Amino acid sequence: MKNYIQAQEWDIVENGFDSHLNKISESIFSLGNGRMGQRANFEETYTGDTLQGNYVAGVYYPDKTRVGWWKNGYPEYFAKVLNAADWMGLELKLDGELLDLNQCKVTAFQRVLNMQEGYLERTFTAELVSGKQVQVKAKRFFSIANDEIAALHYQLTPLNFSGKLDLISFIDGDVKNQDSNYEEKFWDEVSSAQEASGSYLTLRTKKTAFEVITGVKTVVIKNDKTVQLSIDTKSRDKYLSESVSLDLTLNEGISIYKIATNLSSQNYAPADLPDRAKEVIKAAVEKGFEELLKEQAAAWATKWQEGDIIIEGDVAAQQAIRFNIFQLNQTYTGKDARLNIGPKGFTGEKYGGSTYWDTEAYCIPFYLSTAPQEVSRNLLVYRYKHLERAIENAGKLGFNKGAALYPMVTMNGEECHNEWEITFEEIHRNGAIAFAIFNYIRYTGDSSYLKEFGLEVLIGIARFWKQRVNWSADKKQYVMLGVTGPNEYENNINNNWYTNTLAAWCLKYTMEAAGIVKENDPEQYQRIVAKTALEEGAEFADWKEISEHIYLPYDEELGVFLQQDGYLDKEQILVKDLPASARPLNQKWSWDRILRSCFIKQADVLQGMYFFEDDYDLESLRRNFDFYESRTVHESSLSPCVHSILAAKLNDGDRAYEFYLRTARLDLDDYNNDTEDGLHITSMAGTWMSIVEGFGGMRVKNDTLSFNPFLPEQWKSFAFTIGFRGIQLNIKIKKDEIIINTTSKELLHINIFNKLHPVQAGETVINYKGLLV
Ligand code: BGC
Repeated sequence: MKNYIQAQEWDIVENGFDSHLNKISESIFSLGNGRMGQRANFEETYTGDTLQGNYVAGVYYPDKTRVGWWKNGYPEYFAKVLNAADWMGLELKLDGELLDLNQCKVTAFQRVLNMQEGYLERTFTAELVSGKQVQVKAKRFFSIANDEIAALHYQLTPLNFSGKLDLISFIDGDVKNQDSNYEEKFWDEVSSAQEASGSYLTLRTKKTAFEVITGVKTVVIKNDKTVQLSIDTKSRDKYLSESVSLDLTLNEGISIYKIATNLSSQNYAPADLPDRAKEVIKAAVEKGFEELLKEQAAAWATKWQEGDIIIEGDVAAQQAIRFNIFQLNQTYTGKDARLNIGPKGFTGEKYGGSTYWDTEAYCIPFYLSTAPQEVSRNLLVYRYKHLERAIENAGKLGFNKGAALYPMVTMNGEECHNEWEITFEEIHRNGAIAFAIFNYIRYTGDSSYLKEFGLEVLIGIARFWKQRVNWSADKKQYVMLGVTGPNEYENNINNNWYTNTLAAWCLKYTMEAAGIVKENDPEQYQRIVAKTALEEGAEFADWKEISEHIYLPYDEELGVFLQQDGYLDKEQILVKDLPASARPLNQKWSWDRILRSCFIKQADVLQGMYFFEDDYDLESLRRNFDFYESRTVHESSLSPCVHSILAAKLNDGDRAYEFYLRTARLDLDDYNNDTEDGLHITSMAGTWMSIVEGFGGMRVKNDTLSFNPFLPEQWKSFAFTIGFRGIQLNIKIKKDEIIINTTSKELLHINIFNKLHPVQAGETVINYKGLLV
């Protein structure tokens, strides 16, 4: 764990330069706007340790799979978001000496991520080997007001000399992915142009033929006058530069502005890209950096107004939750149903920028509450658009008749993952997709989603489960063999309780959803029946039979659900008895040893009890929680949030807070020693859930919002803003009171500890102490 990020309510601050921390900071200070994003690499040359990262959402490359032993059904490619052109590059030579922080004495250094207004600022003073001292102030942002724009203002001042500056401003598309399977570069150059309006480099991805144009206008200002740059002869492929030599005067700064765009053939015809890029650059340059920054601040103000969380009495916690909200909003804005949320967003290469079950299981609740309804709807539509591919995917594994298996990892609907125990066996992801549809409708009340898209997805998923189970003559129940549950520390097990429970629920829910569509819109229902060739009588009979007779392992003596058939055969050791030297298991133990152990990577049975909480009483939850938590090592960042929410439900405030802390500052404090790979974006949504669903106890039941709050002892109060069915509410939790503010004209009824309270426009204060049972 590191502790170098200073705690401030709105800013992430790093003081002092430590090159060993640079890759971590490059992740933490990442910027993005849903359409594109970037790690916090330096603008000027840096020869030290760095992971260069510029990403354009949805633009991917199918990197040929590399496996030791090929298995039928493996995907041939892993589609990954590729490292794109670096638009902000500057090479700065002072009297011939390169400015490179890896070679300089850095005498002052500060990085600030201003989350309130959405920009990154870096200031430093550095002494070059020659003794020349310079001061630099660099500010940049990715506009969320216009997501085709990024902008940089770089100011350089000589502190102890006058001399010559040779400046090169460049776009470098000659980049590669560190995780490239065959050391291959993924881009080809299509064209380039350099003219007064800017420099434009168009690249095309190999195989997938996405075209991306990067356009940049560089403006240099000295003594309030624009300095002309000259276009350099093109020295290499995928690289464009312009340059100028100018005299620097002691203590007089120069300003370099770069206004950039990245446009892709996903949104424009390739032939239109150059003209469109020129228009975008022209309009942005006319507005200018400061005006663009004002728009950015205004757009972020709206985001914060829709979804801020305010914690009183704990600055580190305040900073952490804002950081998580900020990064989630930088990653996904919901404007484009073709995009999704990679577990690392735009902050690194790991997980390939692809879509995982994380979106449905963890991210949907955040976007449901803090963004307009279309945002989460778009996340669901994304999977609808991949339905055909999911049916093909299931077909490759031998399923038929419209059974759909969504991929474990995907960019375009095709499976990318290629470890058999996950690709073929971690099939619970199908259930999370169905659950997200249910969750969306429960929260929004928008059941029209079913007839338009949702029911077809559910039918495909239900058919898969029907074919995936088999009748056990021995158990006289349906069983599901050879699966991997969310706990990836056991593979190829039989009857994972979570997967079986989810499958049974999916079958029932699909029939229920069909009933809703049939009743509300018989015509649409007939369309879907025809399109999916649904044999209502026979298929429903099967689904009913299976859902009612699926085997759900349970141990009578312990009174707990069994994670899988053989779980109790394992030597039962508790995490508390593991020596510290054995943790994390995934780094200290062989895989073989992990698989045979009882240790659990992440919530599994408990994930199911969280999804379907109304089916279990508190005593049963408590037994399962105590049993499984004591065996869980939380080596997935997705684990603690579920535990935090359940601990809160069990009235165990201390433990709820403890689990919350494990994810809240996971990246800021580099808890797991892996922040340098990128941020844990999807687990950030889990942190949000820990506060709102855990401490706030927020649920939607029977179309009504309900809260069972408690205030962590360490805090004076906390407040969160949510949107619910067109109404915005601010909920503030104090020690004994819940204060609800809404602008809604309608009279609402809100459930607090199982008692309905009328809530009108303005402020309503409810003392909940008296309601506690
Ligand atoms: C977790 C998965 C998750 C993936 C991406 C893995 O470590 O076990 O549940 O989908 O990371 O976040």
